[in-house]
Amino acid sequence: MRSIIYVSVADPLITPDDIADILGTARRNNARDALTGALIFNGHNFMQLLEGPGDKVEACLAAIRDDRRHSGMVEVRRRDIDHREFGDWSMLYEPNFDGHEDSLRRLAANGRLDPVDEQMMANFIALGRRRPTAAVPA
Ligand SMILES: Cc1cc2nc3c(=O)[nH]c(=O)nc-3n(C[C@H](O)[C@H](O)[C@H](O)COP(=O)(O)O)c2cc1C
Repeated sequence: MRSIIYVSVADPLITPDDIADILGTARRNNARDALTGALIFNGHNFMQLLEGPGDKVEACLAAIRDDRRHSGMVEVRRRDIDHREFGDWSMLYEPNFDGHEDSLRRLAANGRLDPVDEQMMANFIALGRRRPTAAVPA
């Protein structure tokens, strides 16, 4: 089996309906194709871990890469795996990024989350925590 993680830039005009549509499609197709993983959206960027049979992972990635609801897809890691990190569900999406720690705890509770992957996801989520920046002095 293969496991990949990528990040991408969401279309700035993406709507909650778009996100719901992506999730519905992913849940349906991924269950059919024995793909599992996590989709995280931090309001600006997506990070997705996708794992399962190699040919299915590649086919799904190719479809996702062509999707105009995001761009700038960059693969951050790819490996062959013996065990899935996510077993019981196909996708996780956190529209409300107030509960970061809780989200990660639930992610970890769903399977054998690799500590390095967990750290990467935590770092990604932290990037979504925007604080107002101080005005730059003239
Ligand atoms: C960030 C992002 C993640 C996506 N993840 C998945 C996914 O895990 N599985 C999937 O089938 N489609 C996913 N999609 C949707 C695909 O790009 C594409 O619309 C879909 O595979 C088409 O499926 P259909 O031919 O059944 O309509 C994703 C799209 C985006 C923008």
